[in-house]
Amino acid sequence: MINLGVNIDHIATIRQARGTTYPDPVDAVSVCLAAGADSITAHLREDRRHIQDHDIERLAAIPGLHLNMEMGVTDEMVAICERLRPAACCLVPEKREELTTEGGLDVVAHKARLAAAVARLSAVGVRVSMFIDPIPEQIRASREIGAAVVELHTGHYANYFGAAQAKELDALADGAKLARDIGLIVHAGHGLTVENTPAICGLPEVEELNIGHAIVADAIFKGLQQAVADFRAVMVR
Ligand code: PXP
Repeated sequence: MINLGVNIDHIATIRQARGTTYPDPVDAVSVCLAAGADSITAHLREDRRHIQDHDIERLAAIPGLHLNMEMGVTDEMVAICERLRPAACCLVPEKREELTTEGGLDVVAHKARLAAAVARLSAVGVRVSMFIDPIPEQIRASREIGAAVVELHTGHYANYFGAAQAKELDALADGAKLARDIGLIVHAGHGLTVENTPAICGLPEVEELNIGHAIVADAIFKGLQQAVADFRAVMVR
């Protein structure tokens, strides 16, 4: 089985669009877990455009929840994560003007800063993942700075079709093999849909997928529980 992490950011996006108290992303947790999710991911962005501090605090306080806190590598975020101690965190590049996380981290270029963040978070028991493109140098650098996990960026694969998509899938397959060979745990995510997820599940090294936008979008038409269950159903080896 591959683990499914449901990213609940866009439930908060709907709430923030009206400045109301609903829908509450925390209410999604029990629904997602009942439908077969293994973990919950939430991205506390620097600009607080969706998930708010009180959301991440409440998520972190849910007993037994495997919470994956996605975050940019800033002192503020590292301090919050150190204090809340979620089971996992995924470090991502963050630019204010982007619509979503648009590329992987450049671990090679920011080795010292990332190594310091990984060391601080690992010291309090948080399992740290680096969100990177499937580039050998980035994978090796992630290992060198002490990350336990790499989350391979599937966004390009998801955006392409035909031969270009097949090429991206090959790069993900090679990246997953290399990462596993050098002792990293392999996750993947970004842009995954019910249609393009099965091929990623064909990569034997991939242990977890993190999926958000398509699940929340599907939930509009079929409900959150069914949307999660439908992803779970296609996540077979
Ligand atoms: N993984 C990471 C690191 C992300 O930044 C995102 C988007 O927040 C996802 C997975 C999920 O991507 P999507 O919302 O396109 O499913």
